[in-house]
Amino acid sequence: MAVAVGIHDIALATGHYAMDLAELAVRHGVAADKYYIGLGQHRQTVPAADEDIVTMAAAAAQQIVAEHGANDIRTVLLATETGVDQSKAAAVYVQELLGLPSCTRAVELKQACYGGTSALQLAAGLVHRDPGHRVLVLASDIAKYDVDSAGEATQGAAAVAMLVSADPAVAVLEPGSGLYTADVQDFWRPNYRTTPVVDGKLSVSVYLEAVEQAWKDYEAHGGRSLGEFAAFCYHQPFTKMAYKAHSRLLEINGVAPDRLRLDADLAHFTVYNRMIGNSYTASLFVGLLSLLDHAEDLSGRSVALLSYGSGCVAEFFGMSVVPGYRERLRTAANQAAIARREPVGYERYRQLREAELPEDGSSFTLESRGAGPFRLHAVREHSRIYQARRLIRV
Ligand code: HMG
Repeated sequence: MAVAVGIHDIALATGHYAMDLAELAVRHGVAADKYYIGLGQHRQTVPAADEDIVTMAAAAAQQIVAEHGANDIRTVLLATETGVDQSKAAAVYVQELLGLPSCTRAVELKQACYGGTSALQLAAGLVHRDPGHRVLVLASDIAKYDVDSAGEATQGAAAVAMLVSADPAVAVLEPGSGLYTADVQDFWRPNYRTTPVVDGKLSVSVYLEAVEQAWKDYEAHGGRSLGEFAAFCYHQPFTKMAYKAHSRLLEINGVAPDRLRLDADLAHFTVYNRMIGNSYTASLFVGLLSLLDHAEDLSGRSVALLSYGSGCVAEFFGMSVVPGYRERLRTAANQAAIARREPVGYERYRQLREAELPEDGSSFTLESRGAGPFRLHAVREHSRIYQARRLIRV
């Protein structure tokens, strides 16, 4: 009999500060509603200087390890496109910070925002091969664009940790996927840049084409029909993009994408992303968490997921929600992580942004700034030194 494999537990972390997009609208000389309504974004997470993708991933993962223990986790897959090293996997730092056993496989994965889904699918393969094996999947990113660019309003930062196992308690990955890859220059970040090169309008149209092609491939491989899905999750660079993507999916299935239908299908899953902003690899799973935390009981129902990563790779797949999943959710912790961010105005945001770490190889020590459980303490002789600030109570 086939083993059911999927998400056994899922947890969220985000950064220390948050800026309301009305602040950015003043600077950009546009109405705040362009961002609130036009992009569907309200706030964006701004990380503290001593926070990065390692500290956020460890903060999300620690909640899972505290509950389930570390011993049966034999693989850590960390997906990011804002990594801190070209060779060493960020997963190795997380393995050490969490005190995972040394008999662990720790790897970093990349394909823009699609990386988190690639890690999830690879994890599922490992568990199918050995159902006693549990895999910690981490998706962690800081989305940052050029100052005064159109993309600046879509910035954000977050990490999602998922424990992938046999007989999961939250959601089972359904068989079959719709896949799409095309070599497109819509968004990319060469090694010599700290911000991406973006063709924003092209990126929107390529994303929509990817939705259509991935869905067609899903159908061609015997996937469910549209009407069998109780809910939908899309990669959310900004929440309005999910509305555009879902409209395209409905249209190609002959359903009119009227506002009532769109809101009914998407309102629950956009709640967290609207407040966090783009979190690249984590964004789809922040949306999944938002859906699980806010929707009526989805026990036994199927949820559709569309992952998109610029460049581009997309995948359409389904998950079946496990009855009783609500007991596993961390709704209060997720909401608290978003609510406790310290508000910053535009000037403070620019100070935080401009206090970027030296990139000339010099050593430095950072004052403790954030409030998360882990921090980047220093860089000495090119080595990053992380510290536990405090232990999360779960
Ligand atoms: P823009 O030029 O600032 O915005 O760029 P716009 O002029 O197109 O306006 C946006 C929307 O606001 C429009 O609505 C306007 O009508 C509306 P739409 O036509 O789209 O429905 N609007 C208003 N609404 C209410 N009140 C008002 C008002 N004014 C205007 N007063 C763009 C938008 C997305 C291009 C920009 O934000 C950008 O470049 N973002 C970064 C790239 C991006 O997020 N692309 C999304 C697809 S690619 C992707 O998702 C992958 C990615 O996550 C990276 C990865 O994979 O690693 C980015």
